[in-house]
Amino acid sequence: MTKIAVFVGSLQAGSYNKKIAKTLEQMLPNGTEFTYVDLKLPLFNQDLEVQFPEEVQVAKDVVFDSDGVLFVTPEYNRSIPGVLKNAIDWVSRPYGQSAFTGKPVGMVGASTSAVGTAVAQSDLRHVVAFLNMKLMSQPEIYIANAGGLVFNEDGTLADERWNANLEVYIRSFVSWVENEK
Ligand code: FNR
Repeated sequence: MTKIAVFVGSLQAGSYNKKIAKTLEQMLPNGTEFTYVDLKLPLFNQDLEVQFPEEVQVAKDVVFDSDGVLFVTPEYNRSIPGVLKNAIDWVSRPYGQSAFTGKPVGMVGASTSAVGTAVAQSDLRHVVAFLNMKLMSQPEIYIANAGGLVFNEDGTLADERWNANLEVYIRSFVSWVENEK
């Protein structure tokens, strides 16, 4: 089984990014599975590193146990959302014990503006480079104007053009992860 740890950078119930992650999940080849990391974590505090809060350890263990990491995130104020950065900071700590080191990584994002998370993903590329992750640089997915998208009743995306792109993306990403196993 190829295991992908998925970070969705939005907590809101009707999140477009949650729906995109679900759409990608339904496209996974056999023998591959998503495990979603719960981003409802306490705010990072270096004082707590000596004894990680339980929910943080759970999140970190999901990443340790994975073969690759996928970020599916909106853009907030031209960067990544605070909840996502908070989770990344926790999982990267303590120094020298990051769960991200050497993991293959991909990123996808949807936003309601024309920017389509391009600026947030650019920032995220800097973060994953520092974390010594193995980024699949291409293909890329920037879903703009998400408010105009149509979704199926189960929450998956009902858009032929985007779904074709998402299918190419997830197949490329799974190959990327499996080549690194
Ligand atoms: C946004 N949004 C946004 N969109 C964008 O393309 N670039 C941006 O910089 C921002 N900034 C921003 C800041 C904050 C605090 C919020 C709440 C929103 C809009 C954003 O794309 C929209 O709310 C999406 O619906 C968020 O994604 P989810 O939650 O639907 O997955």
